[in-house]
Amino acid sequence: MASLKTSVHGIDFENPFLLASAPPTALVESIDKAFSLGWGGAVIKTITPDDLEMFEASPRYTTIKEKNKVIGFQNIELLSHETVKYWCDGIRFLKEKHPTKVIIASIMAPVEREEWQSLVKILNDTPIDAFELNFSCPHGMPERNIGMAIGTSAEISILITSWVKSVAKKPVFVKLTPNVTDITWIANAVERAGADGFAAINTVQGFMGINLDTLEPNLCIDGHTTFGGCSGEIVKPIGLRCVAQIRQKSTLPILGMGGISNWQDAAQYIAAGSDVVQICTEVMINGYVIINKLKSGLLNYLEEKGMSNISELKNAAVSKITSHNDLNKNYHIYPQVDKNKCIQCGKCVTICSESEHSALSKADNQIEVNRNNCVGCSLCSHVCTQNAITMQT
Ligand SMILES: Cc1cc2nc3c(=O)[nH]c(=O)nc-3n(C[C@H](O)[C@H](O)[C@H](O)COP(=O)(O)O)c2cc1C
Repeated sequence: MASLKTSVHGIDFENPFLLASAPPTALVESIDKAFSLGWGGAVIKTITPDDLEMFEASPRYTTIKEKNKVIGFQNIELLSHETVKYWCDGIRFLKEKHPTKVIIASIMAPVEREEWQSLVKILNDTPIDAFELNFSCPHGMPERNIGMAIGTSAEISILITSWVKSVAKKPVFVKLTPNVTDITWIANAVERAGADGFAAINTVQGFMGINLDTLEPNLCIDGHTTFGGCSGEIVKPIGLRCVAQIRQKSTLPILGMGGISNWQDAAQYIAAGSDVVQICTEVMINGYVIINKLKSGLLNYLEEKGMSNISELKNAAVSKITSHNDLNKNYHIYPQVDKNKCIQCGKCVTICSESEHSALSKADNQIEVNRNNCVGCSLCSHVCTQNAITMQT
């Protein structure tokens, strides 16, 4: 019988699914509800000193859709609007009611030792399990020299991590931004400064689009916009890449996130190096109840694989990631077209010819493969709507 229980730095998780620091964790009653429904833990919406003002814009979201289904957000929301006292009382309430759940305090403050340390000291006196340092919000905060302005500078990230570590009584995870050339540069820097682990990724800075009738940006606040943070399914390849890159360079725990919308995504994040995972956008779209399918799906998968827990899945794909230089260039696959499935729509022929190689052609009402021209790129199999093309050696 497999189990979803896991442990990170002595913190016991009944399952690896946490709510990410975001609207689903912006109120104590929301976290209470999520815990009752089965979430393993929650990272509180980023707490700041009470005098750090949060003036929100309206609207604060735009989305990207595929067949009318939202597959990504761009948001310009700021941080928690609740006071530090609200959260201290809330954490005590939540821990008393749900003692087995993990509560992580996400924090951010101006770049002054006293500001960070006094926030940490106040939260030290609550039953939180860990700190998450938000060095990565890409909008609003960088203009005030915090958020991503911290996480894009190794020097400032090191400084704040060491301030926090010198007073924190609980493990400290640094939440990293993907909006850098090399995320491992900052990860390695904060590791040297004493961080106990990483959370990755925060949102990806983006500009979702422009209305061509009005020439106004899709996210338009009284005629203007600002670049925002993208999240949800559209960012999964970036998040998964960042987690794998960090894992290649560090053995510290990773709280992985970015576009997780089902148990399969979560399993991939764990195989790429995450210890546990966090989810925000999918919860906002489909509700806290998604936890049931996440847990049962991952548990069934572990059992089918003969794994007894997620530590057997963790890092399972990491050794399969290498440099382009080290890939076996003698390996070559070719398309095999199943005539019974092929409807001769010609999509494979078009993509092959317009992508340089012209290895496919339509002849006698069937698709023919010219192996001499085929470079084995596999694009034809990806555009086939009938799954009629398999790639074989
Ligand atoms: C509306 C919104 C607000 C967010 N607020 C915070 C925040 O206060 N602190 C933080 O660390 N991350 C914040 N995030 C980022 C999420 O925690 C998470 O890193 C990101 O959305 C990627 O995960 P997802 O694709 O599952 O949403 C926010 C995301 C969204 C969409």
